[in-house]
Amino acid sequence: MTEPALGTSPGRVNLVGEHTDYNDGFVLPIALGHVARVEATPRDDGRVLISSAQLGESVELEELSPGPRAWWGYVAGVLWALRQRGHALGGVDLALDSAVPLGGGLSSSAAIECATALALDALAGLGLSPAELAEVAQAAENDFMGVPTGPMDQRASLWCTTDHALLLDCRTLTPEQVPFALPDDLVLALVDTRSPHVLADGHYAQRRRACASAAEALGVRALRDVTPADLPAALSRLTDDEQVRRVRHVVTENARVLDAVAALEAGDWASFGRILTASHASMRDDYEITVPTVDLAVETALACGALGARMTGGGFGGTVIALLPVGSLDSFADALGAAYAERGFAAPGLSTTRAAAGGIELSAAR
Ligand code: GLA
Repeated sequence: MTEPALGTSPGRVNLVGEHTDYNDGFVLPIALGHVARVEATPRDDGRVLISSAQLGESVELEELSPGPRAWWGYVAGVLWALRQRGHALGGVDLALDSAVPLGGGLSSSAAIECATALALDALAGLGLSPAELAEVAQAAENDFMGVPTGPMDQRASLWCTTDHALLLDCRTLTPEQVPFALPDDLVLALVDTRSPHVLADGHYAQRRRACASAAEALGVRALRDVTPADLPAALSRLTDDEQVRRVRHVVTENARVLDAVAALEAGDWASFGRILTASHASMRDDYEITVPTVDLAVETALACGALGARMTGGGFGGTVIALLPVGSLDSFADALGAAYAERGFAAPGLSTTRAAAGGIELSAAR
């Protein structure tokens, strides 16, 4: 085949269920309208070239070996993961063009990985299943880039559908589509707090290790296996205060995801909003992954009449989501700008979103 192939895949916003995915728990993301797009064109000289429209850069890779800390690794890692699994993929040009904001906690890296997986699947006619596409995309992140993230982001990018949130059981990796169509009088606002969220700086891995050692201390396979009813007894068995807080976050957060699904199914947006805010408090006080810019955005949203607000994604910055009455959006924008200016923070960004579609592949570039 000589025709180019195209993959596009979106970023995501996790509505609730943060740091639960690597604890075998539950998450509830939606896809964003912003997508990463990768065009794959076969080469008969065996060379691998990767370019980025945003950076205006291009690299040629002599060999693919894990461990790069560079933008092109998210693309190259997928080719590497496919070759590792025995797919005979030869030389290729991979042209990346992504509209997913970087460092916003919106899974820009998963969007790139999934778009690459879809493009290469289409190019080589591999016919990979949705589960296999997600596995190779996650392998690029975990095994090639060496970032120890959980299973949520790639599945969100690939499996989300329009006007639905994706309830993912991260133990069985079974997806369920939950209707998420906002009524006309509500908006989901996204605040770019201008505090870049970074997964590779050690905090994320530290949280992951703390959960694994708490699960071991409690004699369970993963913290998913501690139910809210078990929680008081489980916490009384832990001697370390920090561990107590981490476990409390994960166990209550898993319960919040299931409660959020029940609220959405009942069309109970007020309860859904309260769950978002409770999740934020738990991330701030127990999991300790929020920062002042993020907390300020949440407080300002609530003061402006939001039904709920929380940070989304891995933490330490990134994006805040707020469920607001349509009529409060302008006053929220003003109040947010003023609050950030007063604290000397860089002016935040504000946009709104709906639940968009997951990744697609096209066998010939359009
Ligand atoms: C990052 C990771 C995900 C997940 C979230 C926190 O986005 O990539 O796997 O752990 O943080 O919920």
